[in-house]
Amino acid sequence: MDVHNVNLLISAVNPAQYPKTGYPEIALVGRSNVGKSSLTNVLINRKNYAHTSNQPGKTQTLNFYEVEDSIYFVDVPGYGYARVSKSEREKWGTMIETYLTQRQQLKGVILLIDGRHDLTQDDRQMAEWLDYFDVPRLVVATKMDKISSSKWNKQSSMIHKAIKVDDNDLIMFSAKTKHGKDQIWQWIENQIN
Ligand code: GTP
Ligand code: MG
Repeated sequence: MDVHNVNLLISAVNPAQYPKTGYPEIALVGRSNVGKSSLTNVLINRKNYAHTSNQPGKTQTLNFYEVEDSIYFVDVPGYGYARVSKSEREKWGTMIETYLTQRQQLKGVILLIDGRHDLTQDDRQMAEWLDYFDVPRLVVATKMDKISSSKWNKQSSMIHKAIKVDDNDLIMFSAKTKHGKDQIWQWIENQIN
């Protein structure tokens, strides 16, 4: 999909604030600072529409980006950010769990992991948790521009060892080079059609 028209429609914390138009939704989840907002920007062809930051924990609400009057990308605040308080983490947990388990329009989740490292325990838990609730998930290994392509295969088999994932549901990506963008769009279109 070549995206021209995108609106930040809403930032939501609870279901009463979710958009009511009924378009299919694709959520982006992953630990703080992994690159969710950066991937959102690449998918919608914008430089910094979804605010990116070096500072983890930048995104704190569910942000619904309406794309081409037909779909929402939902940028979800990152998990595993050690410097937030326990009560904030619990609030986060409730917000995410409510959205991921109760949202009818949710057609799939893109789980971002840092392609340079092994999965964290939070990553593995999130993958298992999505499986438990039968949410279709795509694993995107990002920041791949930071490791040489000769190591990509090794990284890919490491991911296969850590979680259950079909080859079709694992994409190597870089927000810098945009490698993998078309494949990710293809996966999204398969989920919403
Ligand atoms: P939170 O909103 O805090 O959860 O973070 P996020 O997951 O939205 O991460 P964000 O997109 O803000 O990116 C964090 C940092 O990583 C920024 O400095 C980005 O420029 C950088 N970054 C993200 N993706 C890539 C990538 O593919 N390659 C490189 N080299 N840097 C990236
Ligand atoms: Mg973000």
